[in-house]
Amino acid sequence: MLTMDDIIRDGHPTLRKKAEEVVLPPSEEDKKILTSLLEYVINSQNNEMAEKYGLRPAIGLAAPQINVSKRMIAVHVTGDKDELYSYALFNPKIISHSVEKAYLKSGEGCLSVDESIPGYVPRHARVTVKGFNVNGDVVKLRLRGLPAICFQHEIDHLNGIMFYDYIDKQNPLKPIEGAIEIDR
Ligand code: NI
Repeated sequence: MLTMDDIIRDGHPTLRKKAEEVVLPPSEEDKKILTSLLEYVINSQNNEMAEKYGLRPAIGLAAPQINVSKRMIAVHVTGDKDELYSYALFNPKIISHSVEKAYLKSGEGCLSVDESIPGYVPRHARVTVKGFNVNGDVVKLRLRGLPAICFQHEIDHLNGIMFYDYIDKQNPLKPIEGAIEIDR
């Protein structure tokens, strides 16, 4: 299983690389990696497991964060109506998005960034994501709220983008005009 020892931190060059597409149907090795990403996220939200293994809680994780420069992400998060979005995807892609923006009131965090970096991170309020599950079957998701933010954060990792890249350096808490504030 993955622990925080497997997570590379800000400054590691892999975090700034564009990750490679995964060849489908996936190899057994790639399936194992994908499954391990989701397993980390789920374990990290289990108090007992998190404490026992020193897992920092997360709602998402991307393969580059374990120094695997391939297009794989995992997300385990609930939406506004408490519905669970638990997905591990190969080659996830945003195929459409709203013009309207949204941001988390509390800002964003990342397992690869040890310090907390305050500031609003503008995201698309709604996105449609297409990807492939561990069996290589196509998955299409319409997302809003925190799940939409989370998928955008993880897909950014596949393109070498960190959440703080979007924060206004002069005024991190400058209101984002017309954006939905997500408070959770
Ligand atoms: Ni991150």
